Amino acid sequence: MNNKTRRDFLKKSALGGAALAIPFSAKSYNNIIGANDRIHLGVAGINSRGGAHIRAAGRYNEDTKVIALCDVDNRLFGKTIAKFDNLNSKDITTYGDFRKMLENKNIDAVTIASPDHWHAPMAIMAMNAGKDVYCEKPFSHNPQEGEWMIQAQKKTGKVLQIGNQQRSSPTSTQLVKDIKSGLIGKA
Ligand SMILES: NC(=O)c1ccc[n+]([C@@H]2O[C@H](COP(=O)([O-])OP(=O)(O)OC[C@H]3O[C@@H](n4cnc5c(N)ncnc54)[C@H](O)[C@@H]3O)[C@@H](O)[C@H]2O)c1
Repeated sequence: MNNKTRRDFLKKSALGGAALAIPFSAKSYNNIIGANDRIHLGVAGINSRGGAHIRAAGRYNEDTKVIALCDVDNRLFGKTIAKFDNLNSKDITTYGDFRKMLENKNIDAVTIASPDHWHAPMAIMAMNAGKDVYCEKPFSHNPQEGEWMIQAQKKTGKVLQIGNQQRSSPTSTQLVKDIKSGLIGKA
C-alpha cells in the first residue's frame, strides 16, 4: 500500500468497515511508518467483542497487525490465536495485566473490549502511555469517568474513539425513522 492510500485508510479509519473504526493521530501515524509499515495493535478483553476487533483487523492485514493480546483469563489466549487466521503465535505477546501491555513500545494503538467498568481506567492509562484508543461502548461507567477520559484525550492529543455501532448502523437509523413516522402506531 503506498503512502497516499495508507493516509486515506487512516483518515477513513475503516478498520472493520461500519462495525469498527480506529482513527490514528498524525504523530502515531509517523511513528508507524518510521518503525514498521504496519499499525501494531494490542487488544484487551478478547472473549467476545474482542474477537470482533481481531477479525476486523484481519480485514486490513497489510496495514494492521495484532501483536498483543491482554486478558485476565489466560485460557483464552491459545483458543483465540488458533481461531483467527490473522494471529500468529510467534508474533503475539500475551498479557494478564493491561499495564504491562502498555509498556510494549511497539504497540501503536489499543482496542478495549473488557467489561464496562474497565473502559475509562484502561483508555486513560493507554492514552497516557502514548497509545491511540478504540474502546467499546459504554463510553464510561459513570459521567465523572467520562470527563476524565476527555481530559486525558485533550492532554495527550491521542485519538479516542468509542464504538456505538447500533447508533449509526443503517438498519438502526431506519428503524428509528420508521418508529418516529408512526409505522407501528403512536410512540
Ligand atoms: N459496540 C458494540 O456494539 C458492543 C457489542 C457487545 C458488547 N460491547 C461491549 O464490549 C465490552 C465487552 O463485551 P463482551 O460481550 O465481549 O464481554 P465478555 O465478558 O465476553 O469479554 C470480556 C473479556 O474481558 C476480560 N477482562 C475482564 N477484566 C479484564 C481486565 N482487567 N484486563 C483484561 N481483560 C479483562 C474477560 O476475562 C473477558 O474475556 C462490554 O463493555 C460491552 O458493553 C459492545
